[in-house]
Amino acid sequence: MEIFITFILYSIANNIAIDFKKCDFGIKGEEIRTKDEFKKTEDKVLLKELDLTIKNGYLMAILGETGSGKTCLINSLLRNLELLNRNSPDKSYYIFSNNISYACQAPWIMNGTIHDNIIFYGNFDKEKYNQVVNACQLDKDFENLKHGDFTEIGSTGNNISGGQRARIALARAIYKDADIYLFDDPISSVDSYISKIFHQARVNLLKDKTRIFVTHDTRNLKYSSRVIVMNHFEIEFNGNYKQFSGKEEYKDIIDEQSHPEKKELKLCKND
Ligand SMILES: Nc1ncnc2c1ncn2[C@@H]1O[C@H](COP(=O)(O)OP(=O)(O)O)[C@@H](O)[C@H]1O
Ligand SMILES: [Mg+2]
Repeated sequence: MEIFITFILYSIANNIAIDFKKCDFGIKGEEIRTKDEFKKTEDKVLLKELDLTIKNGYLMAILGETGSGKTCLINSLLRNLELLNRNSPDKSYYIFSNNISYACQAPWIMNGTIHDNIIFYGNFDKEKYNQVVNACQLDKDFENLKHGDFTEIGSTGNNISGGQRARIALARAIYKDADIYLFDDPISSVDSYISKIFHQARVNLLKDKTRIFVTHDTRNLKYSSRVIVMNHFEIEFNGNYKQFSGKEEYKDIIDEQSHPEKKELKLCKND
């Protein structure tokens, strides 16, 4: 208990938002009871001995091939994956706030107006709403809809494109007032928009928030506080942009920044 309190005080004093040391995350085995026997299936460890420290206000960029564990990392922050070594004395686990806003990889829409989908039961702040709509470049879409942002969407409303759906889901995540923002690799239909959204999140709307972007848009990497590269469920690299760009093995990604027209990205080639 004493160690735990010291640790919390250390995290607060050092402005730490997230601190995982030697944390195993995965899915807990199930207990199966039958009349004659009691069995417990094994835990499935996905992220083993994860070390991750993120300071408050940091902008993190997470890269990695498909299947490398990027979404698992996000799920560990969301507590969707369980901390399996809860009782291990070497591990430490700290998230300073549970107020997390999350845009998942597969954007979702509820039945209602676009406006409802962005506000999502929050308070309506006109100025903020307009800024978010602008950042997600939804203004043009509203102009082309008869009822603008009061157009009904979802299964009982109008059909919207995949890109509109993704930008509405991003707008919802950005509009929410939270301490930590997680964006899991917005789908490629927002590729041409994501740079501006990322930019707005950096300089304007979410300026002082802790932001974690799983992304394959490399043009903004230089603005990240830290770049993380996932490989086979491990953090292969965690450092600032200068350290990242100095690595020979990531040269292809840096090249991509100078030639954004090159679509194929070595590290995220299957995304
Ligand atoms: N909840 C889960 N249950 C079982 N396996 C999982 C679960 N989540 C992820 N995995 C496994 O981890 C792999 C990588 O997951 P993911 O984090 O989604 O990769 P990425 O986001 O980098 O593409 C998946 O292909 C799957 O095999
Ligand atoms: Mg993923």
